[in-house]
Amino acid sequence: GGGGHVEDVDFSFEGPFGKFDQNQLQRGLKVYTMVCASCHGLQYVPIRTLADEGGPHLPADQVRAYAEQFEVFDKELDDFRPAKPVDHFPGSALDTAPDLSLMAKKRAGFHGPLGSGFNQLVKGMGGPEYIVTLLTGYHEAPECAPEDFPGSYNVAFAAGGYPDSCKNEDGSHMVPGSWIAMAQPLYGEDVDFDDGHDNSLHHTAEDVAAFLMWTAEPKLMARKNAGLTGVIFLTLLSVLLYLTNKRIWAPIK
Ligand code: HEM
Repeated sequence: GGGGHVEDVDFSFEGPFGKFDQNQLQRGLKVYTMVCASCHGLQYVPIRTLADEGGPHLPADQVRAYAEQFEVFDKELDDFRPAKPVDHFPGSALDTAPDLSLMAKKRAGFHGPLGSGFNQLVKGMGGPEYIVTLLTGYHEAPECAPEDFPGSYNVAFAAGGYPDSCKNEDGSHMVPGSWIAMAQPLYGEDVDFDDGHDNSLHHTAEDVAAFLMWTAEPKLMARKNAGLTGVIFLTLLSVLLYLTNKRIWAPIK
């Protein structure tokens, strides 16, 4: 079944010079912690990376305080203890909720034109855009669906259940999206931000999507810098080789 249209969002981390917006990552962390973490986990993310430059860049004492809200099982103590920055975020609390560490890179938002994926060159893969569209994609179930159909209707989610009564005779779908097992988690004004930033549904969804892009690709900025250095280096090398070539052949031409 096809998902709905995924909207393009201009994230700060896109493009060759893009950078994560530290304040946005801190807001996204707050949304994740207060809303998503009751079901989802981030088992591949070490808590200490919250202090990383280029990431949320929290002060060390805040990272320690953040860690202490989680309990982890310590094999040496053979008991539970409060988490420390060296520990990872907990895994999913709800079995059916997938771990979100890498989700922003598992899903693509842009597939076109004609499935070529060519738009991804310009817009990026669209993982964070997919998450924004998913979180803002809950609508009243269409009339074709039985009232007791399990799940919540979401226009961006492609992999869920789909009632036969919403299919045409040839099996094609009458409405976009499908029914997801995650009830709408965000409505807007779910959290208040310390910097007084807009907490409407769309902004909050963007902030948590940006945070999940950082968990999936924390070294994005270092990778872009290395790429840029490479381009500059190769450009210089080309110029030098061109001049050397001219010089070597000058007596013969
Ligand atoms: C699935 C994000 C809150 C339960 C997902 C998926 C994402 C996501 C990206 C994967 C969708 C896909 O497979 O393409 C979030 C975010 C949240 C949040 C960013 C906070 C803003 C919650 C909460 C719960 C929950 C609070 C539980 C009450 C689930 C479940 C699934 C899921 C059960 C699997 C859905 C299915 O496969 O049908 N979530 N989630 N989520 N989430 Fe959440």
